[in-house]
Amino acid sequence: MRVPVAVKVGAFALFVMGTYTYYANSIPQIQSKPPAELSLEGGNVTPAQLVKAGEETFKTKGTCEICHRIGQKGTRAPDLAGIGSRAGKVKAGQSAKAYIIESLLQPGAHLVEGYPNIMPQVDKPPIALNRSEVWALTAFLESLGGTVDVKLDDIPKTVGAGAAGGGATAELKLPGDAKAGEAIFTGKGGCIACHKAGKIGASPVGPDLSQIAKIQTPDYLMRKILDPAGAGTVAGFPKGVMPPMFGQTLTAKDYMDLVAFLMTLK
Ligand code: HEC
Ligand code: HEC
Repeated sequence: MRVPVAVKVGAFALFVMGTYTYYANSIPQIQSKPPAELSLEGGNVTPAQLVKAGEETFKTKGTCEICHRIGQKGTRAPDLAGIGSRAGKVKAGQSAKAYIIESLLQPGAHLVEGYPNIMPQVDKPPIALNRSEVWALTAFLESLGGTVDVKLDDIPKTVGAGAAGGGATAELKLPGDAKAGEAIFTGKGGCIACHKAGKIGASPVGPDLSQIAKIQTPDYLMRKILDPAGAGTVAGFPKGVMPPMFGQTLTAKDYMDLVAFLMTLK
């Protein structure tokens, strides 16, 4: 019996994703903390200082601005202007603070209408914020039209537990040759017809992938290539334009090389 190529590539992808997740979770958390790590626990911080620290996190380590803009519609994600007041009206009985924290830690729990489920959990790689950073970020978002009342204790103690090893996890090498993947991107895969990726490409048909590894996980990229519609259509772009047949046209090696290349885009 012949197994269709799409099934083979799909099964292979699931296997690689499983292995990746297994190793990512089993890596000992020995890596020392990245230098830019913010720690506010135990200190006396005023709400104003907290908001300022949160704004800094939003613009730098949080990478939020690659998807969100404040007072301006970004392509990938909702405008966060006024989120501090809007957040209290999303679900009956849920405070603004609780909604904001949920949006950061379980982005899929409630989806803003018209947007796909593509926001990564901010305390997991690649963003991997720690508990202080999530606390400060919540204060900053509350400050956008609302009242800053978040306490460190509002952020679950488990937050960022996996982020301490974020550096190690992020450096984990996927099986795949990035150089060969770039050749698939520009050649056989034809991705370059629709996507910019760092120095190569220029097309506005699909999203700019130049920083995709800063904001997305390998398993999202793998899913997106095999099943573009199933992975959710990026806001601001047309549905059904990204071709759905890469599972048939790429070999398993092409596919892994391509993902390895995408993971270098940061
Ligand atoms: C890969 C793109 C992406 C990144 C990176 C990202 N987000 Fe999002 N975010 C989204 C999308 C898409 C939505 C809407 C779908 C949903 O509700 O999950 C969203 C929703 C939200 C919401 C709920 C908005 C509302 O109007 O209810 C908040 C709050 C939020 N994001 C904050 C952040 C913060 C803070 C960061 C940085 C730490 C961040 N996001 C990083 C894509 C992203
Ligand atoms: C005919 C144009 C076209 C081609 C060819 C194409 N894409 Fe896309 N791609 C799109 C469009 C349009 C979107 C945004 C809409 C959507 O999410 O489906 C997209 C979205 C994506 C995203 C999600 C980006 C994000 O910000 O979350 C990734 C990743 C991606 N494409 C990778 C690829 C790769 C890798 C290839 C080559 C194997 C490829 N695309 C080929 C049009 C294309």
